Amino acid sequence: MENYQAINWDRVSDAVDKATWEKLTEQFWLDTRIPVSNDMDDWRELDSTHQWVVGHVFGGLTLLDTVQSQDGMRALTTGAITPHEKAVLNNIQFMESVHAKSYSTIFSTLNTQAEIDEIFQWSDSEEFLQNKAKWIVDLYRNDPDPLHKKVANVFLETCLFYSGFYTPLYYLGNNKLNNVAEIIKLILRDESVHGTYIGYKYQIAYNQLSDAEKQKQDDWAYDLLYKLYANEEKYAALCYDQVGWTKQVMTFVEYNANKALMNLGKESMFPTTASDVNPIIMNGINTTTSNHDFFSQVGNGYLLGQVEAMNDDDYNIDVISDPEAGDK
Ligand SMILES: [Fe+2]
Ligand SMILES: [Fe+2]
Repeated sequence: MENYQAINWDRVSDAVDKATWEKLTEQFWLDTRIPVSNDMDDWRELDSTHQWVVGHVFGGLTLLDTVQSQDGMRALTTGAITPHEKAVLNNIQFMESVHAKSYSTIFSTLNTQAEIDEIFQWSDSEEFLQNKAKWIVDLYRNDPDPLHKKVANVFLETCLFYSGFYTPLYYLGNNKLNNVAEIIKLILRDESVHGTYIGYKYQIAYNQLSDAEKQKQDDWAYDLLYKLYANEEKYAALCYDQVGWTKQVMTFVEYNANKALMNLGKESMFPTTASDVNPIIMNGINTTTSNHDFFSQVGNGYLLGQVEAMNDDDYNIDVISDPEAGDK
């Protein structure tokens, strides 16, 4: 066995690794700090059909974030060129677990235990949802081409999640379920960094290929996207026909499919642009959120705690200060 090498952050061969690490750690967040229970009044106003949609699209998103946390990042690690890239992927992997868990935080606030069990039964068995998970996981586990794994990853994160994200963004655009939407916006903020970073790594490898190999990669990627899109139409119909949103959801999916291709440095596949997307959704996306309360400092304005050097007093955890004792 060759000598094992320690990761040296003072010699970084790709500055994008370091910049991405810094960006991701700066925007770290946890689901437990968002006051979802403040959305209960909005939730009770929804009829049972709309509640069904919210619960089940979140069930779908839980499944996809589970895929990312359990298979996605590990699959990409095998194609990583630098040790810093592996460190960034480790960071992303943990956040995918936070994403997957955050839907449970929403469920436990809005839904009964019986409803939650039904949602998970649905997401673990629904055909068109399972297609997405199984096809992507099959590529992660069994496709030997590291470029294919990156394409699968970017299509999943920058396109397939968006049929589910439509719902909370719709409510946010209508000033409803704001705290639920806040969690989704924090996830979106992460996904936008993930998609750009993995697309960038894809392009580095792609640009070293011959023209013939590039053409083969392009054909493969567009074929996969067609297959995923056809399945997505069925998934969207299943979730959204009952509320009449399917067409608008697919427009949003097309808009994001183009973005996924852009992350990979490829041409758009759909004529759809931002102006075709339901303005309520764009309104939801563009809502800048503020901190919900001073203590938790959550929201897109989420701040990391300010750091200061420790001193001896920091260890006096159990000492109750006695004003009459004078200075120590
Ligand atoms: Fe995620
Ligand atoms: Fe992600």
